[in-house]
Amino acid sequence: MAAIRGLIRLFPGQLVQRNLPRVTSFFVASAGGRLVGCCALQVYSKRLAEARSLAVHPDFQDLGVASKLVECCIRRAKERGVHELFAVTSQTSFFGRLGFATFRREKTAMFYELAAG
Ligand SMILES: CC(C)(COP(=O)(O)OP(=O)(O)OC[C@H]1O[C@@H](n2cnc3c(N)ncnc32)[C@H](O)[C@@H]1OP(=O)(O)O)[C@@H](O)C(=O)NCCC(=O)NCCS
Repeated sequence: MAAIRGLIRLFPGQLVQRNLPRVTSFFVASAGGRLVGCCALQVYSKRLAEARSLAVHPDFQDLGVASKLVECCIRRAKERGVHELFAVTSQTSFFGRLGFATFRREKTAMFYELAAG
């Protein structure tokens, strides 16, 4: 978890730093014994899960690492019988290529913030 936190800390502008999913929710990528990528699948209910805390170290970007991590989340969510998987992100074209779209291809998810972080 310390290595995951270290990676997520590299992207304070893009990633929530607090209340991270527990370690068993994460898929990770490693190279030479070093953690270089992570993505968590947070399952909220049979209906809904979130792919979150996605990060790849700058030295290992554009190699398909994040795509593989998100595909792992999709596979795990399918195995668990979850109906919908969402991601809150500014990387809409990245997630779009992996098959994510606005809700039912027409609705926009909107959020009401109750607490920061
Ligand atoms: C967004 C982020 C996770 C992408 O990670 P990544 O490992 O570079 O992603 P991928 O390599 O799977 O895909 C990125 C690009 O490489 C391309 N690519 C995918 N597989 C490839 C391969 N085998 N060889 C070469 N390029 C490849 C993809 O088409 C994609 O192209 P694009 O630049 O047009 O988007 C990474 O930039 C990051 O950590 N950003 C900061 C944190 C963040 O924004 N997280 C997302 C918030 S939810």
